[in-house]
Amino acid sequence: MRDGKIAAMRQDYKVGELLESSAPPEPWELFSSWFEIARQARILEPNAMILSTVSEDGQPTSRVVLLKDFNHRGLVFFTNYLSQKGKHLTNNPRASILFWWEPLQRQIRIEGEVGKIDVEESDTYFQSRPHGSCLGAWVSKQSQTIADRTVLEKRQIEFEKKFADGNVTRPDYWGGYRLIPRKFEFWQGRSNRLHDRLLYSMKQDTWTLVRLAP
Ligand SMILES: Cc1cc2nc3c(=O)[nH]c(=O)nc-3n(C[C@H](O)[C@H](O)[C@H](O)COP(=O)(O)O)c2cc1C
Repeated sequence: MRDGKIAAMRQDYKVGELLESSAPPEPWELFSSWFEIARQARILEPNAMILSTVSEDGQPTSRVVLLKDFNHRGLVFFTNYLSQKGKHLTNNPRASILFWWEPLQRQIRIEGEVGKIDVEESDTYFQSRPHGSCLGAWVSKQSQTIADRTVLEKRQIEFEKKFADGNVTRPDYWGGYRLIPRKFEFWQGRSNRLHDRLLYSMKQDTWTLVRLAP
């Protein structure tokens, strides 16, 4: 153990509670209300979520992506379909998403299947992005090894010339995914590590709700 300082780091959680009496029958309503509260809290990017996928040889890996839309159909994020996560999802479309909103002492875990969204939906979102971000989708062959930063700088110049008219089209390898949840676990930190955990699971087209021990 280093100097014991890490081992001594701990917080008691006291800001809220999550009781069955306030849990709606379906998780979307709770997700939506927690998300809205997170938006109003002083959190820099409440839509930043940890997406975990699994490689062909069974190795899980996680990274942050940004939630860009959600409704009863699922949660949408955008990325490069040829990236590491894109390859994982082609091979195994199951993924998990995690939000940790520290000031609220809340965690949400979501699991489900991921599929590509319609090309029209990806086009609409792509065109709403700042010019530099649109170019970035062309410049970066996401997750590939590159010799150094000049590789990016050269490609940036190349694509600035290519799209000199300012109209950047969406590369077909870049677009959105939608995760369709089958499980939502809402976690509210409580005192003495006796946290609240409510788990919604989809079974035969119906959401069931149980409480888990912390
Ligand atoms: C706050 C934050 C937001 C991010 N948002 C996205 C995103 O929306 N889409 C994306 O492809 N990568 C995003 N990234 C970068 C990813 O975490 C990751 O580095 C990249 O997608 C490559 O992951 P992969 O090699 O596993 O495919 C974000 C990173 C951070 C820290």
